[in-house]
Amino acid sequence: MKILGTGCANPSCVVTNQMLEGFLDTSDQWITERTGIKERRVMSSERLIDLAVSAANKALADAGVGVEELDFIICSNVVNEYATPAMSCMIQGAIGATCPCLDINAACAGFIFALDMAEDKLRAGKADKILIVCAEEPTRMVSWEDRNTCVLFGDGAGAAVVGQGDAMKAVKLTTASRTDVLYQLRRLEPTPYLQGDHSFAPLVMKGRDVFKTAVSSSTADIKDLLARTGIDSADVKYFVLHQANERIIDSIRGLLGEQPEKFPHNVERYGNTSSASVPILLDELSREGKLQKGDILVLSAFGAGFTTAACIIEWTK
Ligand code: UT7
Repeated sequence: MKILGTGCANPSCVVTNQMLEGFLDTSDQWITERTGIKERRVMSSERLIDLAVSAANKALADAGVGVEELDFIICSNVVNEYATPAMSCMIQGAIGATCPCLDINAACAGFIFALDMAEDKLRAGKADKILIVCAEEPTRMVSWEDRNTCVLFGDGAGAAVVGQGDAMKAVKLTTASRTDVLYQLRRLEPTPYLQGDHSFAPLVMKGRDVFKTAVSSSTADIKDLLARTGIDSADVKYFVLHQANERIIDSIRGLLGEQPEKFPHNVERYGNTSSASVPILLDELSREGKLQKGDILVLSAFGAGFTTAACIIEWTK
């Protein structure tokens, strides 16, 4: 597998920490010190499908790949307004593709899970060109009266087109069932036969638990991949980490004994956009001319499940 092109799209509505101070018992100082987040993009006039399609079209254009060349579409999504059909089906129609597609939900680690699935299809000779779109609206999962969660998230979409190549040097996926630390109970229709409690609730997060698990598991994943491949961390150009919290990124960096310049971030502008965060950052780095052919990148993410995923890729564009 290799990445042929990337794209991203974010909502137009910018919500600053100061705006949140207007209706929440919070402060710019608290949010900045605890998370590094200064503002986030929040869905207003647009719909998630608009962002997904925009990111997908930009990635196709960047890759120079026509929709008719696509053999498969994978969409990583936790929540959107449709329970069914899958968002990938809507993306397929909107971009004019005809290939099969499916959605996955590996929470914030979804992009790397999707890269791994794509790699398997490419290796098996079942596909030559695959579109991955990570489209997320976590701001629709939280209560906007809960300062513990709503300040942390933002909406967005990131996409990549992948094709045949050997840029994927190693990948590691983990799942450890910890359904108590991060979850949302959505509303389903009642029936006359249901028994027991079927309440629904906005996102619940045990922040400190998630923080500690994220730091230890992401660090372990990265060390494991470097050891397995024999790649020296000095030869890694960038560690492209899930953008959840600047302090999480900094803690992982400290444990790896690395320099801040190697840990690009945009969490200050977008908040946590779930699985879209890694491809959005990758796309920004690429468009800013910060990636050169041959660069070694480490990608790492973690999220509800608890899922973690990391990979080492060579930038081949
Ligand atoms: O993609 C994965 C998803 N999630 C994450 O990655 C989140 C991981 N966790 C975190 O990022 C951090 O744990 C948080 C940012 C959520 C919290 O930071 P912390 O340093 O772990 O905070 P804390 O638990 O030490 O402090 C919580 C305190 C509580 O007050 P008391 O009970 O100590 O008096 C909260 O009520 O901070 C309070 N608090 C706030 N205060 C002002 C929580 N949210 C806010 C807020 N503004 N927005």
